[in-house]
Amino acid sequence: MRMNEHRAVADRWDRYGRDRPEFAVLTDGRTGAEFYESGRTEVFRILDTIVALGNHPRGRALDLGCGLGRLTFALASRFDAVIGVDHSAAMLNRARSRSHDLHVTNARFVLAEDGRFTEVGTATVDFALSRLVFQHMPSVGMIASNVTELARTLRPGGIAWLQFDTRPQTLLYRIWDWIEPHLPKGVGPETRRAPLRRYRRRPIELEGLLGNLGLEILHQFGQNSECHEYLIRARVTAS
Ligand SMILES: C[S@@+](CC[C@H](N)C(=O)[O-])C[C@H]1O[C@@H](n2cnc3c(N)ncnc32)[C@H](O)[C@@H]1O
Repeated sequence: MRMNEHRAVADRWDRYGRDRPEFAVLTDGRTGAEFYESGRTEVFRILDTIVALGNHPRGRALDLGCGLGRLTFALASRFDAVIGVDHSAAMLNRARSRSHDLHVTNARFVLAEDGRFTEVGTATVDFALSRLVFQHMPSVGMIASNVTELARTLRPGGIAWLQFDTRPQTLLYRIWDWIEPHLPKGVGPETRRAPLRRYRRRPIELEGLLGNLGLEILHQFGQNSECHEYLIRARVTAS
């Protein structure tokens, strides 16, 4: 993954972070209390599912691609500490400002640069979450560098919940995928243009990547859909 590719993508998100941050996160128009309430609903659903499956993550959580902290603040109410990571400084500044206004003392926000978030220590995270983030990454290389970095931060036995878009790559999708980067700015629906557009990934590719990094898939939900979620555990011992 080339560094300038990471930066070009981060710049596009940062522009949204400055100008239309809530729309960039939830393009259906939810704002204000409703926007943040949706994050609580999603996080509590996920944590309830994980507990029902016999896992009990607690301690330190990480929210990769945290945006405005929609999910981070919900995690903060359930974990001792939470780190929100994003490559957009504008998104992070807004999240920090909300954290300050709400007097949230156990959340901090860290800038990802070139796919790395070195401020987060190795094997220090008990639970990692990423929703509505990998689906927007324009290359498998970018996914790979972010998952590699996530794996570095997870402690052995740590749990992660990661969402991808794995709808089949139809002919129509492939044509759009090929054309979209070449279209002039402003042509086509905004949510189908980068950075807001979604990229469909093949489960076999994702699963190979997770396996190579020592991440064991415990369960998966919504296979071959726009919301394919993996419950993953970092191996306790190297195999
Ligand atoms: C659609 S928003 C989702 C925000 C949050 N996960 C939520 O559900 O409320 C996508 C966020 O991911 C961030 N993002 C996208 N690609 C990223 C990357 N490679 N590294 C870090 N952040 C990324 C964007 O800057 C943006 O804030």
